Parts: sequence; C-alpha cells; structure tokens
Amino acid sequence: MASDAERIESIRREIRRHDRLYYVEAAPEISDRQYDELMDELKALEAAHPELIAPDSPTQRVGGEPIEGFAKVAHDVPMLSIDNTYSLEELREYDQRVAKGLPGQEYVYTVEPKIDGVAASIRYENGLLARAVTRGDGRTGDDVTVNARTIKSIPLSLVGEGAPAVLEVRGEIYWPREEFARFNAARAEAGEETFANPRNGAAGTLKQLDPKAVAERNLAFVAHGFGAVEPTPEGPASEMMAAMGRWGVPVNSHARTCRSVEEIHAVIDEWATRRYDLPYEMDGMVVKVDSLAHRAALGATSRYPRWCIAYKYAAERAETVLREVSFQVGRLGTITPVAHFDPVQLAGTTVANASLHNFDQIDRLDVRVGDAILVEKAGEIIPQVVQVVTARRPKDARPIRPPAACPACEGQTARDEGGVYLRCINPECPAQLKERLRFFAGRDQMNIESLGDAVVDRLVEAGLIRHFADLHRLTIDDLVGLEMSRYPNPKSPKKEIVQRLMHKSAEKIVSEISKSKAMGLARLLAGLGIPLVGNSVADMLAAKFGSIDSLICAANRRDYLAPVPEVGPKTAEALRTYFASKEGQAAVAKIQSQRKSEWAEDLARELRVWGGMKGINRVVANLVNEFKDIETLARLAPEMDEIAAIPGIGSEVAASLRKFLVGDVGLRIIRDLKAAGVDMTAKGPGAEAEGGDKPLAGKTVVVTGTLQGYSRSEVQAAIKIAGGNPTSSVTGKTDFLVTGDSPGAKKVDDARKHGVEIIGEAEFRKRLAKWGELT
Ligand code: IVH
Repeated sequence: MASDAERIESIRREIRRHDRLYYVEAAPEISDRQYDELMDELKALEAAHPELIAPDSPTQRVGGEPIEGFAKVAHDVPMLSIDNTYSLEELREYDQRVAKGLPGQEYVYTVEPKIDGVAASIRYENGLLARAVTRGDGRTGDDVTVNARTIKSIPLSLVGEGAPAVLEVRGEIYWPREEFARFNAARAEAGEETFANPRNGAAGTLKQLDPKAVAERNLAFVAHGFGAVEPTPEGPASEMMAAMGRWGVPVNSHARTCRSVEEIHAVIDEWATRRYDLPYEMDGMVVKVDSLAHRAALGATSRYPRWCIAYKYAAERAETVLREVSFQVGRLGTITPVAHFDPVQLAGTTVANASLHNFDQIDRLDVRVGDAILVEKAGEIIPQVVQVVTARRPKDARPIRPPAACPACEGQTARDEGGVYLRCINPECPAQLKERLRFFAGRDQMNIESLGDAVVDRLVEAGLIRHFADLHRLTIDDLVGLEMSRYPNPKSPKKEIVQRLMHKSAEKIVSEISKSKAMGLARLLAGLGIPLVGNSVADMLAAKFGSIDSLICAANRRDYLAPVPEVGPKTAEALRTYFASKEGQAAVAKIQSQRKSEWAEDLARELRVWGGMKGINRVVANLVNEFKDIETLARLAPEMDEIAAIPGIGSEVAASLRKFLVGDVGLRIIRDLKAAGVDMTAKGPGAEAEGGDKPLAGKTVVVTGTLQGYSRSEVQAAIKIAGGNPTSSVTGKTDFLVTGDSPGAKKVDDARKHGVEIIGEAEFRKRLAKWGELT
C-alpha cells in the first residue's frame, strides 16, 4: 500500500515532467506510447486506490461532465488592455514619457512577442490551481476552470520551492498554428464551419460547455505577467517571471532586456521576420518597464497601464481588382467560391487566387466582381480577401450569387444545417468522385502516384470508374484505349510510337494500383475520405483494432450510457460492470419476472446492495427515463464506444466513423475493395516491419532545414512510421540529426556539443530506403 502510494506520486511527477518537456519546452524525451503507458499505469493504480486520487493528478484534467454555463468572476487586480503604436517614432515618444515619469532614475524594458490569443488569469492557492478566468471586460471575466484544466501546458500544481501562497498567473491561451490548421482542415472537409483564425478558435473553444471537446483541441498557454501575488513580490517583474518558470509555469522564452529605444528597435526588426517561426500567431511586440516600483510610480489610465506599450507590425496586404469568382466542388460536395484577381506580391510570393470560403463570407464582405479588394496573408501563408474598397466600387460591379445547380454535374445543391455551406448532393457527381479518387491515390494513402490528375479526369468522364474498387478492374488496354481515343490522327506514322509510350505508362499505373492492395488498413482508412479520419487517426485505429472487421464491430457498439444525465465516466463504468456481472444479470431477471411497470425502486435497491455508486436514486431515475424498460437497459448498458475511448480520437470522430462503417454506402465500398483483394489488416509498410526491424526502431531523430519535396509533417510522419521518435531539439538522448537545406545553426552546434551523429538528406533516405518509405 505504502509502495503503491509512492509509485503513484512518482508516476505523477514523471508525467508532469513529460508534460512540461512536451508542451512547454517542445523537447519530448519519450514516445507517445511510453507516455500512454505511464498514464495507464497511473489510472490503474488510482482505480485500485480511489482515496489517493488528488485534484492535481494528471488523470484529473478532464472532469468528464459537461457544465451548464460559466460563472462571472470579478478580477481582484483588473486586467487592463495595452496601448498600441504602429511607428518607431511613437515608440520614441513613449520612451520620453516614461523618462519624464521616472525623473532621474535608470530603468530597463523587457521586450517580448505579443501573442494573439485569449487573455486569462490562472490562480494558484498554496500551489494548487484554484481557478481560471478569462479577461472578459477587464473587471469581470468567465470562470473557465474546467476547460483550462484540460490544457496540458497549464500546470495543475506548482512545483519546486518558494511558490507564494497566492499566485495569479496572467497570460494567453492560444491555439498552436499547426493544431488549429489541422482542426480547421478536418472541419472544412466535414463541411462544417471553420474558425476565421486561431484567436477566434481559441475563444470559441474556451466557451465550449464540454471539457472533453476542449481537451481534444490541444490549446496551449503561455504566461506574460501576474495579477494578485501574496506575499507581494519584491524585485523586478523579470525575476518573478523567471521564478514562475521554475515553478513549472510556461513563460515566454523570447523576452529580451532592452536599455534604449535603439535596442528595442533592433529586437522589433529581428522579430519582423522571425515571428513566422513561432508556433502561435503574434501581431507585435510588447515593451514593458521591468521594475515593479517603476510600474507603480508610472500608474495607469482607466484603460492602459503607463508602463507598457505594444508595437504592432503592419499586416502584409495589397490592393487589387476582383475579376472573377469560380466555384470548386470538393470531395464531399462542398461548393467553395474562389476569387480570381489581378496578381499581386504578398509576403514574397505572387498571389492571384484566394478562397472565399463560403457564401456567408461573401455576404459579410459584400464583395462583387469588379470591386477593388484588399488581400492579406492570413497566418502569413494563406491569402485571404479581407476587405472591399467600397469607395472605388465601379457602377457595373456584379453581385456574386450562389450557383443554382452544381457547377460540375448540374445536380441539385443544398445548404447544410448551419446554412453556411452550399453542397452538391448528387452522390454520383463526377467532380466529387474525381477529388475523392485523387485523394485515395495520394502519396499518404494508396500511393498510386502515376495516376495523374488528367488520367483521373478522363477515367471518370469515360465512365470507367464510378467507385474506388473500379480501379482494380482497370486493364492496360482500358488505359491505352482511353488515351488513344484522344489521339487526333489515326493514320499518322507516329501513332505506333505514341501507342508504345501509352502502353508503358499504362503498365506503370496498373502495377501501382496492384501494389496498393497491400498498403494495409491504416492507409486504406485514411484514403476513404471519411470526414475527420485523417492519417493520424487512421494509424491509431489500425493499431488498436488490427482489421477492418473488428473496427466495424466496434463501430456497431456505442456508449448508450454517455448521454444519460448525471452518468459520468465513473458511474458508467460501474453500471457496465454491474450489468455484465452475474449479480447484475440475476437482479435484472428478478425484476423482469415481477413484470412491474415501476421498476426504478427495485433497481435502486439492488444497486444499493451491490454498492460502488454515488447518487443512486437520481441516476436510476434518469436511466428509467432514458431506457423505459429494464430489458433494453440491461442489453445496452454494457456496450461501450471503444472508438471514442481512444485517447486523441473522441466522440466527434467516432460518430463520423460510425456513420460510414455502419451505413450502406460505406459498407459497400469496403466489400467491393475487399473482393478486389485489398488488404484490410494492419499490415501496411509500418506494421510489416513491426518485429523490431523497423529501420528507425527506438531512435530519437531531429530534422533541421528542409528536405527536398517533403513538408515538415511528412518527414515527421515518415520517422514515426519507421519506428523512430521525431523530436524538435537536440539533447544527449538524440540518436542523430538530419540536416536539410538551410539547417539551424543552433541544432548543429548542439549536436556537436552532445556528440550526436549528423547526417545529410541522402544518408537519411538510405536509412529509410531499405523499407521503401520516403525514397
Ligand atoms: S503584458 C496590462 N505581454 O494583449 C496588460 N500582454 O491587447 C499587460 N498580450 O490583455 C499585459 N501578449 O492579454 C502582455 N507578451 C505579452 C502579451 C500580452 C499578449 C495580451 C494581453 C492584453 C492584450 C492587450
């Protein structure tokens, strides 16, 4: 018992350390799998010793129960806003005002990125997270404690020595760019409304009533200050920030001390380009007087403190003229309006097109063909139309109307539930089919690379392909015939040469299609284009279920207890155990035999005898209300949604999978592919090499610079599939560093310092090559 308690504490410490390494320092030391094993062990120990569960245990981040609403909380120390400036000249004037306010005194500034997130105040009492409140109007905010607890970079308890009795950490909750992009892309794919930017997304997420949904979105936090602190801190703010860092609070590592306006300028210049490397969006630099005594002396206006100012970078935007709007049909039928305008230079590239996202966006902007428009790069990557210069609207500007029929198949269109998206609802729409096929054949799915866009178009147009499985019926003659039918001059002497070439490329396509049968379950699932099921979800599903059959079985089971009010995960678990047990079954039989219409009291009595549950009366009342008769309850209660229970998958994905795997259309696609000989077990390239002979098994690998033709995430995925563990900084535990184009000097230095092997791209490919990925 004593040793279990010790083990529990030691695993908690270990998990907290790994949370910090992963979420705060971006330098993980263990794989996701090892992390999950620690978590599983902790959960098992806590289940055996429920009396040892503590509010700051890593298992307690998600309480489970959705909440009713957010209480309003007044801030002890108001959360003020910051005054803005857009010019270096104004910054100099600001410094002169500070100098005047601190006559004859020396002062220094701290300069750091201004994070575009949602301001929050997180209160620790005696080292334990007590409450998290949003900024609100600065005087009162919303109590978002349950949601903030799910954010892994917010410690549930402070670590180390000397933390004050009360500490209000102030900072920004933000949605890391990559996480945001992934979530938004999945939403768009599912035809659901997307968030305009990570900041809106983070704000919307914090307002979710279900903390589980918040946990799935992987928000993050970084501190930039503090509110109430008891005892009152002495010394400059930077010292307090450093101490907060030691207590486990993520603080901004990019804060610099500046002694003059010139030094501030230099930092601002440096970040004008570096800002795009940050994992979060930032729109400027905050300049703060460091000494707390100076801050007090400078004071505040009703809205801004006088001790700080924000320098805002101008967004990259350009003016141009909208010439045309076209409509694209996506693989799920969503019709997206796309703006085509006179080419302009933006953040280093020429841009001539931008998605207008949906028809609501067109209404919001009130944009018309012929309008002068302002185009900006959102997140500095994707061009957006942000505004219309209405003053310069030409008389003949033409309003943009949603197309009455699908622009590809002229089929019927319909608005989705929210009314934001227009969709082609013809399941046979060739434009959708083309997009689905392209995706299915993509490099990360079936990898049929020789099946180019033009061939897909022709195959669909000629009616040779209507479903994925038709690919496997394609013959070389089909493909050659298709190409030759387009050949203009049947009598030309060159015809034979052309035919020979066509034959060669047809052979390649057919052979790649045939090879694709062995790609395995994960890639197949990813390729089917099930909304919200991308490669990483598909990997997890394949690893957990092993074959399509067990996955379909799992999709047919669901958690019928989850929607019942007051039945949280613990109660659900207890009920499942009960109804699956001999005792439970005997009790059900007994109650059934009495054939009473009122069975709530009897069930409650049985459950009370059995024990192990809280609030039995209310729970039973809700069960009776939900299930009506005890047969249904006894039959459905033990079922469990194994898909939603996988960490990182959750209920939205499970619902989408269920819709596909239980519906006729999905089952048919699977049956046809199976009949064509497609492997539906988790035996893809990754799993094949399972028995330790994965090329990078157990290796911790860091990549710096760009590798030819591969995005960062693709390289990381390749390392993972090859059994390796991609991390972002070089430590003594790194096995090797791969250097691509323009490698980071720091990583190379670190590798030398730790004696870590440094290899180039060619060698890296060689190491992966024996198994065929990334070559
Ligand atoms: S210092 C008086 N530092 O920007 C408030 N604020 O537009 C002093 N913000 O409400 C805050 N990054 O939530 C500070 N590095 C940073 C910041 C930062 C973002 C937020 C802050 C404030 C808002 C004002």
